[in-house]
Amino acid sequence: MLNLYHTINNHIKEALERAFPSVSSEAEKAGISLDPQLVKASKPEFGDFQANGAMQLAKLLKQQPRAIAFSIVEQLKTNKNFIELCKEPEIAGPGFINITLKNDCLINEIQNRLNDNRLGVAKVEVKSGERKTPTVIVDFSSPNIAKEMHVGHLRSTIIGDSLARILEFRGYKVLRLNHIGDWGTQFGMLITHLKDVAPEALKHANALDLGDLVVFYREAKKRFDNDNAFQEASRNEVVKLQGGEALSVKAWQLLCAQSRQEFQKIYDRLDIRLKERGESFYNPYLEGVVEELNNLGLVVKDQGAQCIFLDTINRQSEPQAPVIVQKSDGGFNYATTDLAAIQYRFNNPPHGDGADRIIYVTDSGQANHFEGVFQIAKNANWIPENAKLEHVPFGLVQGEDGKKLKTRSGQTIRLRDLLDEAIERAKSDLTNRLQSEDRNETDAFIEEVATTVGIAAVKYADLSQNRISNYQFSFNRMLNLQGNTAPYLLYSVVRIAGIARKGGFIENEITELKFETKQEWSLIRALLKFDEIIIEVENELLPNRLCTYLFELSQVFNRFYDQVPVLKAREPFRKSRIALCKLTADTLKLGMGLLGIRTLERM
Ligand code: ARG
Repeated sequence: MLNLYHTINNHIKEALERAFPSVSSEAEKAGISLDPQLVKASKPEFGDFQANGAMQLAKLLKQQPRAIAFSIVEQLKTNKNFIELCKEPEIAGPGFINITLKNDCLINEIQNRLNDNRLGVAKVEVKSGERKTPTVIVDFSSPNIAKEMHVGHLRSTIIGDSLARILEFRGYKVLRLNHIGDWGTQFGMLITHLKDVAPEALKHANALDLGDLVVFYREAKKRFDNDNAFQEASRNEVVKLQGGEALSVKAWQLLCAQSRQEFQKIYDRLDIRLKERGESFYNPYLEGVVEELNNLGLVVKDQGAQCIFLDTINRQSEPQAPVIVQKSDGGFNYATTDLAAIQYRFNNPPHGDGADRIIYVTDSGQANHFEGVFQIAKNANWIPENAKLEHVPFGLVQGEDGKKLKTRSGQTIRLRDLLDEAIERAKSDLTNRLQSEDRNETDAFIEEVATTVGIAAVKYADLSQNRISNYQFSFNRMLNLQGNTAPYLLYSVVRIAGIARKGGFIENEITELKFETKQEWSLIRALLKFDEIIIEVENELLPNRLCTYLFELSQVFNRFYDQVPVLKAREPFRKSRIALCKLTADTLKLGMGLLGIRTLERM
């Protein structure tokens, strides 16, 4: 209903100006913005919107807010266009103006939605004079080579994908970048160690799997910490790799390929697309970045290291710790790579991505890192006007005991085992239910439903939490058919699909819609909120808002369907109610799709 919101907002603004002709100039003088402060009504009994603007004008106009509200309403009542949309406004409390849409207006909106496969969500407009569709980079997932992808990466992957889908749907050009940790001194020690213990891994593809690699990595790290000769050899190996020596580069490539295969399996199962552009991509730019920062006078040499002190910003911990952009041994850091990446991403093609907004989805433990890096980019003047850099932090994944998520034997959980278990449990729930309902289904059906429900449950459990909080992982909770869960939402879609099979959805344009019960009007109002929720998620990057909306919509729908006859109703109510069912299904499906969740017609 964003379109209606804007229209009504304009009507009130105009009414205000007509009621108090000199108000604009006086407000300007007083530094007050003339805003009707139109918001969603805080309770259904207050109508659809409420305008709170009268309060802030009281002092300026030297009148009681109620009197101001009264004058505004008088003007509104003379506006034909307003009257067509809204019932007579009511003044409440100290001077709120409550606005309720007319039934015809709501019906008209529903009518529009039924003929609109975007369900009212506008596409971003490319303003005239602007050269291109705004580009958004979503930097997410980003696991590290030779390390296992862990639950933190899973959160980043699921949240990042959903944000990317929403931005894509809105019409942005979205670059989904996988900033893989594929560079750095760890490769020196890994290659040196493998030369000793598993030389074949550096010559042939597929000689190891990621599990082996993770073990080798741990061993290498141990040797590195305890053995001087090994340290020396590892450093030489890094030099060789950075110098582009063929054998070292080949070994490095094999290691990356090995990890990449494993990561890809997870992405395929989750139905997630990413473009890999690892840290190594920015390697050629690192020296230039440090040089440029030096030329800008931002760098201080401290014990041989090149440092940037950012005492002007409020860093949450270690207030004195500088960002080290080059270590005393000449090596570069994680932060240096991110600085090079920012520069590249904001640069225009062909030597950059021409981004307008860059979003980083990582755990909140990296908040400090990004705060520092963003501040440096700002001081260096690398952020174009109106462009945005945003860290999208999320909390930890915990076990049901509130501690770090572990297997029963105390080991870290591997993602593929976690997904397997979700599907396995979904399958056993399903077979039990089929038995109790006396249903006979094929193996293919059971497989398909269990996989969809299992993956959906894992994704939805993560997305439906406010991402900032830590979240407790519980298979039982996420697979429950009741509550704010994926199975509940999937089941609502299935329920409506059942209605469609029995009654048939109307294909042609519906000419005459008629509603009479309060359950129908509640459902209509819930349906019409979809567009504003999408814009909210786009701005605030909180997918849980969309989850809550879909959950509440399902509840309102189920109440409607339990209390109001649909297929047995007489015309024109029957087809009108069927239309609401169809629109509910379409909204749920589109919304779930934007969360990266596939829906089912039967389950
Ligand atoms: N590889 C990092 C990690 O595993 C995440 C990278 C996030 N992206 C970035 N541009 N720093 O923690």
